[in-house]
Parts: sequence; C-alpha cells; structure tokens
Amino acid sequence: MATLNPMLLAALLWVPVRTLTCYGDSGQPVDWFVVYKLPAQSGPGKAAQSGLRYKYMDKDSGGWRDGAGSINSSAGAVGRSLLPLYQNASQLAFLLYNDQPPKPSGAQDLSSRGHTKGVLLLDQEGGFWLVHSVPRFPPPTSSAAYSWPFNAQTYGQTLLCVSFPLTQFWKIGRQLTYTYPLVYDHKLDVAFAQKVPYLEDVVKGHHVLHGPWNSSVTLTSKAGDTFQSFAKFGKFGDDLYSGWLAEALGSNLQVQFWQNSHGILPSNCSRDQHVLDVTQIAFPEPAGPAFSATEDHSKWCVAPEGPWVCVGDMNRNLREEQRGGGTLCAQLPALWKAFQPLVKAWKPCGENRTFFP
Ligand SMILES: *[C@@H]1O[C@H](CO)[C@@H](O)[C@H](O)[C@H]1NC(C)=O
Ligand SMILES: *[C@@H]1O[C@H](CO)[C@@H](O)[C@H](O)[C@H]1NC(C)=O
Ligand SMILES: *[C@@H]1O[C@H](CO)[C@@H](O)[C@H](O)[C@H]1NC(C)=O
Ligand SMILES: *[C@@H]1O[C@H](CO)[C@@H](O)[C@H](O)[C@H]1NC(C)=O
Ligand SMILES: *[C@@H]1O[C@H](CO)[C@@H](O)[C@H](O)[C@H]1NC(C)=O
Repeated sequence: MATLNPMLLAALLWVPVRTLTCYGDSGQPVDWFVVYKLPAQSGPGKAAQSGLRYKYMDKDSGGWRDGAGSINSSAGAVGRSLLPLYQNASQLAFLLYNDQPPKPSGAQDLSSRGHTKGVLLLDQEGGFWLVHSVPRFPPPTSSAAYSWPFNAQTYGQTLLCVSFPLTQFWKIGRQLTYTYPLVYDHKLDVAFAQKVPYLEDVVKGHHVLHGPWNSSVTLTSKAGDTFQSFAKFGKFGDDLYSGWLAEALGSNLQVQFWQNSHGILPSNCSRDQHVLDVTQIAFPEPAGPAFSATEDHSKWCVAPEGPWVCVGDMNRNLREEQRGGGTLCAQLPALWKAFQPLVKAWKPCGENRTFFP
C-alpha cells in the first residue's frame, strides 16, 4: 500500500494561520491601505449616487483605484479587515472607539472625550490600527456582521489602516491616553492587558494628568514603514495643524476637514509654515470625481511640497482646540503621490475668495 510522503502529508495538514493584518481590496494581506469613501452623487450608477463607492490605494496599487465593490461589502478592504471582529474573536483583543458611537451600543456621546474614531485589533503577534472619520462605525461586535452605517453615506470619509507588530501597541496605547477616546466596545484579556500596558487605562477612561498635553511617537509597521503619530489632549488648547503639526513637520499644510460646523478656523499664515483650508477635492481624470469640501467629512492633510501626508481625527475649528485627537502621518512616496494631486482649491490667507491654481 502506498504511504503518503511525509512532506506531502505535512502540506495537506498545514492550515495557513490567518495573520491579523489589514487586508487589501483584492483580499490580500497588506501592510497599510487608505480608503477614500466618495460623497453621494459622485458619479453615474446607483452605488455612486447613494455614496457607497470608494477609492482604494496601498503601496503597490499604483495610486488610486476604484473600490472593488460597495463600501458596505465585507469583501472589500475595510469589511475584510474588520471581519475577525464579527467571527470568532475569542483569541483576539480589540478596542472600538468613536466620539459618535453606533446608537445600539448604549454608550453616550460625551463631548469631553476626544474627537477621535478608530479600531485597534490584535492577536499575540500584532494586528492593525484603523484610523477613520466615520460616525457610528464600525458596528459593535454584538451586531454579528460588518455593515456601513446609513448616516455615513452622504459625505466623503477617509480610513487609514496600518498593520503593526505587537511591540508597537503599547506606544499606540500611550497615544490614546492623550486623545482620550470614547471606547464603546472592547475585549482585553489579562494576557493582553499585561503585554500591552495603557490599553486597559484607555478602556477605563484614564487620560494624561499633567503636561505636556501633546505627544508624538514613531511607529514601525509590520513591513518596516515608518509612521508618526501625533496626539493631543483637550488641555493642549490649540489647533492641531497651525499650533503644532505644520511646525513639527516643517512644511506648509493643505488641510481637508469638515467645514459645516461652527467656529471654522481660517487659513493661517501667521507662522513660518502656512496652514491652508482645502475647499475643492478632485480625483484624477478621466474617472474623477471632483467635489467640494462641504461634501467631505474626511480629515487629512498634505504637505504641498512633500513629502508628508496625514490622515486622522481632527477638524480645524474652535471647539476642537479643547478636545483630544490626533493624526497619523507618513512620508511615503506612494502616499504623497496619491494625495498631493487631490487638492484642487484652497482658501488663501486673509481672503474670502477661493484660490484655484
Ligand atoms: C472560537 O475559537 C476558539 C479557539 O480558537 C475555540 O475554542 C472556540 O470553540 C471557538 N468558538 C466558536 C463559537 O467557534
Ligand atoms: C449594508 O448591508 C446590510 C446587510 O446586507 C444592509 O442591511 C444595509 O442596509 C446595507 N447598508 C447600506 C448603507 O446599504
Ligand atoms: C494662527 O495659528 C496660531 C497657532 O494655532 C494661533 O495662535 C493664531 O491665533 C492663529 N492666527 C490667526 C489669525 O488665526
Ligand atoms: C507639543 O506641541 C508644541 C507646539 O505647540 C511643540 O513645540 C512641542 O514639541 C510638542 N511636544 C511634544 C512632546 O511633542
Ligand atoms: C470676509 O467676509 C466677511 C463677511 O462677508 C467680511 O466681514 C470680512 O471683512 C471679509 N474679509 C476679507 C479679508 O475680505
């Protein structure tokens, strides 16, 4: 009787361990990706009309690509990456935080908390940090399935997912003691709480108690790309971009943020580095689309002369000077080449008109 070759047997029995990372739009593990959910009425077709289409990019995508399907699909980059939350999370740790939590979670909107939204999902080897702008998202794990909230269909939204080894999560946890997030769902067993200090503090709602009220750290992704996290507590009391980021990055910044609230801060050229409010966004022709910042709830900035891009939590308005929050920046050529051309118009300093280059 033929016996199985031991090598073949091993191959047959080997079940690939699903590593916990960000997943790209074709279902492959990726080190990081950005998804830009487009505003409603951004093109022909039902999905584009109702605001369920998105653009996708990662290091190897060669710039922006049309999203594989609807942002509501669990087969796309965002849904696929978050899937472990809604399957068997017994071996995992996670924190879901949002200043506008999903309604069924029972948590309240607390405006003393940071203006910050995201997901930490990790196993014993590492996982990812998803930084995003989406209100009432993602659904709590009790929902048993990924879905995109109806309330976040109309406007543009950004999501940045970065895969990190376990060693980076204590630094991320420490940043979250500055941003002071509202955690509406979590799982953090003792084993994780010991390995990743600060996360338990964050879950319990502890925050920094003495200045300095801002903190910046370098984070290294699983594949070795460098990210810089900027985090501020409410007592920082200044705009993230004009009061810190532009100087820290040593560059002028064009900032896309939600412009439909009270107390919007005008473009600011009072310091060496200028901070300019973006008013028009356009994806490259022929596909486009182009839209106004008033249709866009996303929060990102780009150094027009390079090489920085940041995706994060904060708008430029008076209220958010007194709130926690932050942004995740990188100087990666692929990222900058994708974001730099998106800025179609901005407000010059001291003028009301919009500048179209
Ligand atoms: C979840 O996974 C753990 C270990 O991987 C297993 O013991 C448990 O039975 C699973 N639970 C479900 C509901 O599949
Ligand atoms: C997303 O999918 C779920 C499940 O199929 C559905 O109930 C929900 O209405 C969809 N949401 C949107 C915004 O289309
Ligand atoms: C410009 O930004 C700095 C730092 O945030 C702030 O102190 C100053 O008041 C701002 N100037 C104007 C004109 O808004
Ligand atoms: C905090 O922000 C100020 C600018 O407002 C900056 O000079 C300082 O270096 C920052 N502190 C840290 C710890 O990053
Ligand atoms: C901008 O418009 C406002 C309101 O219309 C006006 O009060 C202000 O003087 C204008 N500022 C400049 C610099 O033109």
